[in-house]
Amino acid sequence: MRKITVAIDGYSSSGKSTMAKQLAKKVGYVYVDSGAMYRATALYAIRHGMTDPEKGVDTAALSAALHDINISFTIASDGSQHTLLNGEDVEKEIRGMQVSGWVSPVAVIPEVRHYLVDLQQKYGRDKGIVMDGRDIGTTVFPDAEMKVFVEASPEVRAARRFQELTEKGTPADYDDVLANIRERDHIDTTRKESPLRQAPDAFVLDNDRLTREQQMDILLKLFEEKTCGKD
Ligand code: DC
Repeated sequence: MRKITVAIDGYSSSGKSTMAKQLAKKVGYVYVDSGAMYRATALYAIRHGMTDPEKGVDTAALSAALHDINISFTIASDGSQHTLLNGEDVEKEIRGMQVSGWVSPVAVIPEVRHYLVDLQQKYGRDKGIVMDGRDIGTTVFPDAEMKVFVEASPEVRAARRFQELTEKGTPADYDDVLANIRERDHIDTTRKESPLRQAPDAFVLDNDRLTREQQMDILLKLFEEKTCGKD
């Protein structure tokens, strides 16, 4: 069976990370969460005083500091993947509200994107990788053998995110969550550098009405076809 590259792209809260993680585990591939890399970079910018509510992100300072930002991944004792920023486990911090608020403006900076895309391509050099994000099938691995574009309506994604937040005990308002999802969709699809768009050769997975098991069945079948060399 040949080793391939799997690129999974889609909107925020479409469930693509869970899907990508599960697929990687099932087939014994490395999983890379590219969003975590943008989040870790945003955390670095926050910690080094490069973010200002009035002035935004100090693009020049962050661009000059990129080579001091070392991002890697480790497996924690419970088997989950954690992100390391210069060797420090920042997994919890990068999922918090502060980083979520700054990650979009950080992710639009071309220098940041070039630096992280280069790193992502290095991770994928030997194939046997599942990477999820926004531009994986279009920019990072345009030659990936398997490309999936995950779609779900904003309402379904907002309902999922709302449930996730309430289950964690975080107070949330459904309309606010929906508005935030629509705003992030807008930023992701309209930015100049590597906007979120479907690669022409991607398989579109509309998961509005699919269970996790049904999604995994579809992905595994596709994976089998691709690793056996069929189109
Ligand atoms: O998938 P996520 O929500 O963790 O992504 C965090 C942010 O990073 C989000 O604003 C989109 C951006 N991102 C990106 O621009 N390109 C990627 N390949 C992955 C994420």
